Amino acid sequence: MADLNELSEKLAAIRAEVLSELEKTTSSKAVYEYKKAVMDGKTGVIGSLMRQMGKIPNEQKAEFGKKANELKVWAQEKFEEIDKKFKDAEARARYESEKIDVTMPSVKHVHGNLHPVTQVTNQLIEIFSSMGFEVFEGTEIENDYYNFTALNTPADHPARDMQDTFYLSPEFLLRTQTSAGQIHVMEAKKPPIKILSPGKVFRSDDDATHSPMFTQMEGLVVDEGINLGDLKGMLDELVQKMFGEGTTTRLRPSYFPFTEPSVEVDVSCFQCGGKGCKLCKGTGWIEVLGAGVVNTKVLEGCGIDTEKYSGFAFGVGLERIAMLKYGYNNIKLLFESDLRVLDQIDD
Ligand code: PHE
Repeated sequence: MADLNELSEKLAAIRAEVLSELEKTTSSKAVYEYKKAVMDGKTGVIGSLMRQMGKIPNEQKAEFGKKANELKVWAQEKFEEIDKKFKDAEARARYESEKIDVTMPSVKHVHGNLHPVTQVTNQLIEIFSSMGFEVFEGTEIENDYYNFTALNTPADHPARDMQDTFYLSPEFLLRTQTSAGQIHVMEAKKPPIKILSPGKVFRSDDDATHSPMFTQMEGLVVDEGINLGDLKGMLDELVQKMFGEGTTTRLRPSYFPFTEPSVEVDVSCFQCGGKGCKLCKGTGWIEVLGAGVVNTKVLEGCGIDTEKYSGFAFGVGLERIAMLKYGYNNIKLLFESDLRVLDQIDD
């Protein structure tokens, strides 16, 4: 039989051992592991105490039970206390390491953006698609027929001088206008036709507002009863979407061999609202594109019945639109690939 005194000493020794072991712990995890070991019902020095009950004389059982229980409660509290101490310190350390200084400048995320001319192209395609236009991309090398003759500009026609052409051979050339695509579409498709044709065009022309290669977008509508009023209505809707509400257009007489009548289209200055500023050179208007009612000779050449059908066409220079919209004063800025310039436009 174990004697109660002996057991009391044992309990005191356990208490001292727990204290000294806890001294050595350095984290809440270590406390948890130690607690698990000590409190284990089979193997733990405290957890298995009640198993000793059998060895205690009956009259001392109650006393032993009380003492053992006291030790258990004490140990539980001790574990909790130390655990809290470590948890607090650990939380503080984590807050410290994860602390965000909201006054620090943020990390700059570098991302690329589309070329301003591509942005303008995409914007126009989106607007025209919403009006039901389909995109047709022609080829950059054309023959003389599609680029000129079929567009009512036969050889020796004075209008050929309007565009300085790069000839590749007597027959082939770099297209000077996306209008060449009109003919391909009308040869391949029956009216109603509603197409948009963006692409590079080439002319021997080079100054602050002209480049030997630039981008045009052609529009062609052929259907029953199409007239200049339809063109004007569509253009007004277009410029409001492109340059903002309140923007309007005006048509001025012009000349293109493939349209009759032909017009030059001005847009009311979207910078000054028409009062007159540097951008519109004080006139309140900015020239943006050429257009007109498709010449019946062109339709007939493509086998379209002009008794029944008529159409309008327009051609717009996209570098020019990008320059106006984003304030470039020299077309070369769009071709020099200087990212400091190009990166500024993310429209
Ligand atoms: N192709 C003409 C140009 O390049 C623009 C235009 C297109 C005019 C369609 C009228 C109709 O100048």
